[in-house]
Amino acid sequence: MPEIVLTHVTKRWDKFYAVDDLNLVIDDNAFVTLLGPSGCGKTTTLRMIAGLETPTSGRITIGGRVVYDSEAGINIPPNKRKVGFLFQNYALWPSSTRTPAAPQRCCASCRSRTTW
Ligand SMILES: Nc1ncnc2c1ncn2[C@@H]1O[C@H](COP(=O)(O)OP(=O)(O)O)[C@@H](O)[C@H]1O
Ligand SMILES: [Mg+2]
Repeated sequence: MPEIVLTHVTKRWDKFYAVDDLNLVIDDNAFVTLLGPSGCGKTTTLRMIAGLETPTSGRITIGGRVVYDSEAGINIPPNKRKVGFLFQNYALWPSSTRTPAAPQRCCASCRSRTTW
């Protein structure tokens, strides 16, 4: 995996900050886990790296290539970022309930979403 750098990345819906001024460097070939309570912004951060969510502001580079920069007006689409993404919900097997890999419902605050 190439180096990924997030600089002052913020994602806001109206007045609600899902991710607030995040600075993060993931080294080349590093294996990284984002750990935090439900709702702290883990998925939103991954979605912004993949290009599935557009940050409100900040800058993201992947392998030295700028894929998002709010000030420069750069926003490379997901299919041009070469990023794989495994969704945490039933996107691939919506009817599956019994496979060992089937995700479990997390808690009431997750509403209809599921988590691993
Ligand atoms: N599309 C959206 N619109 C409004 N709020 C959202 C949206 N997506 C996520 N959120 C909110 O942003 C916060 C962070 O969500 P999320 O990144 O999914 O958290 P995590 O993955 O750490 O559990 C949560 O409060 C969530 O409800
Ligand atoms: Mg999540």
